[in-house]
Amino acid sequence: MIELRGVGKSFGDKRILRNVSIVFEQGKTNLIIGQSGSGKTVLLKSIVGLHEVEEGEILYDGRNFAGMNFWDRKEIRREIGMVFQGGALFDSATVEENVRYPLDMFTKMTKGEKQKRVDFCLNRVNLHDANNLFPSEISGGMQKRVAIARAISLNPRYLFCDEPNSGLDPQTSIVIDQLISEITKEFDITTVVNTHDMNSVTEIGDKILFLYQGEKCWVGSKNDIFNTQNQIVDNFVFASKLMQRIKNKENE
Ligand SMILES: Nc1ncnc2c1ncn2[C@@H]1O[C@H](COP(=O)(O)OP(=O)(O)OP(=O)(O)O)[C@@H](O)[C@H]1O
Ligand SMILES: [Mg+2]
Repeated sequence: MIELRGVGKSFGDKRILRNVSIVFEQGKTNLIIGQSGSGKTVLLKSIVGLHEVEEGEILYDGRNFAGMNFWDRKEIRREIGMVFQGGALFDSATVEENVRYPLDMFTKMTKGEKQKRVDFCLNRVNLHDANNLFPSEISGGMQKRVAIARAISLNPRYLFCDEPNSGLDPQTSIVIDQLISEITKEFDITTVVNTHDMNSVTEIGDKILFLYQGEKCWVGSKNDIFNTQNQIVDNFVFASKLMQRIKNKENE
């Protein structure tokens, strides 16, 4: 479980996040949604410490990450897996080397143990026979799976994904969403996913935080979002559905 209490973040005199409080639950796929520029990426980066927040607390199962120094954060960092926007694989390393990288960096596992773990993770994301290929030799969907395999290699308690479906077609997006959701339940991870894909919301949104201009505007589940009385959320849902329909027409 990750709890945010009154998180605020500015860049210079530009206020990006204001008083964001929420509990992201363990074993659930928690989503952060909202328009482009609403602060989703800044919030995600703030939670993992890639941005420093000026206000509020960020509690990882009760441990206040925001208040810790660099060295004290190490233990929590070790428990975090991340899938960055665009996948962010190392282009000059093979699939297998990409997944092994965190094990090389953070563990003292033997070569054999690492190989076993790499094979387990790649198998878990249904990637077979790709170990020795380079990222440029596999599809976008496969690259996302490699990124997920790498993110789970250290058996994380917390998993963060920033727009895991960007650049993927709708069918492949569903496969990636389902994979994230399954892994979350299977390994009882606290997962936080940034998205503006309404399909993802309806497929995997156990708990949804809607950000609007850097503030918490609405919290609910995939079952609540279509019946919301909140005008801003309703407009977002309506616009997303419209976009989806146009995209589907284009693909026909
Ligand atoms: N390093 C930075 N320095 C200054 N301003 C920033 C920085 N990073 C983000 N911002 C600003 O913060 C605001 C929120 O950006 P953010 O990237 O979090 O939006 P987002 O909700 O993730 O959008 P998208 O859906 O397009 O990814 C934007 O106005 C952006 O210009
Ligand atoms: Mg973003």
